[in-house]
Amino acid sequence: MRGATVSDDSPKNFWESRYADSERIWSGRVNPTMSSLVADLPAGRALDLGCGEGADVLWLAARGWQAMGIDISATAVAHGKAQAESHDLGDGSAVFLAADLPEGMPEGPFDLISASFLQSPVALDRQRILQTAADRVAVGGRLMLVSHATSPPWSTHRHGPDEMPTLEGDLSALVPRDAWEVQVGELRERSARGPNGEDATLEDLVILAKRLH
Ligand SMILES: C[S@@+](CC[C@H](N)C(=O)[O-])C[C@H]1O[C@@H](n2cnc3c(N)ncnc32)[C@H](O)[C@@H]1O
Repeated sequence: MRGATVSDDSPKNFWESRYADSERIWSGRVNPTMSSLVADLPAGRALDLGCGEGADVLWLAARGWQAMGIDISATAVAHGKAQAESHDLGDGSAVFLAADLPEGMPEGPFDLISASFLQSPVALDRQRILQTAADRVAVGGRLMLVSHATSPPWSTHRHGPDEMPTLEGDLSALVPRDAWEVQVGELRERSARGPNGEDATLEDLVILAKRLH
C-alpha cells in the first residue's frame, strides 16, 4: 500500500508479532470471492501472495491445485503447514514458504496467482509485487486480486483514500496491457461483521485477469 507507514517496525517484525500474538487472526475460511472466481478453472499450479494462515491455499489444494502460499511471517506459514498436514495435504499439494515479496517470489509459470487483501499498515511495495507476479503468470493463466477498497470501520489502522488500491493502479501492473484480458475489474459491496459484532457494508476491489500471450 502506497505511503501507509504507521509503525517504525519492519514489515517482518510487524506481521510476525501480529501472528505470534494469537492462535489465529483470520477466519480460516476461504475468501468467498476468490473461491467463486476460481471454482471453474482447471486445476494447475497456483501461488497465493501474502497467504497468511493459508485458508485459500488449503482450499485450492483440496480441489486438486498444486498450491503454494507465501508470506513474510514464519508463524503464519507454520500455521498453514500444520493445517496442510492435518488435512492430508502435506504431500506437496499445499506448500508454504516464508519470504519477503517481491524479492522472494518463486519462479513461474503459475496457472493462477492470487492475493486476498495483500495490504498492510506498514511498508508494502504492492505495485512491484503485482508487476513481478504478473510476469510469473503462465499464458492462459489468471491473476486474481481481492482487496479492501476502503478501510473496514473497525480497522485500527485507518488509511486515506490515496493509500488504498485502485482499479487503475492495480491494472497498471499488467504489462503489456494488450497481453491481458480483464475478465472482472470492479468494486463489489459485501456485508460483514466486525470483531465486536458490528455490521457494516464493505467495498472490495475485485480483479480477475487472463494472460493472453
Ligand atoms: C491483510 S493480511 C491477508 C492475509 C490473507 N491473504 C487473508 O486474506 O486472510 C496481509 C498478509 O500479507 C503478508 N505480507 C505483508 N507484507 C508482505 C511481504 N512483503 N511479503 C510477503 N507477505 C507479506 C502479511 O504477513 C499478511 O499475512
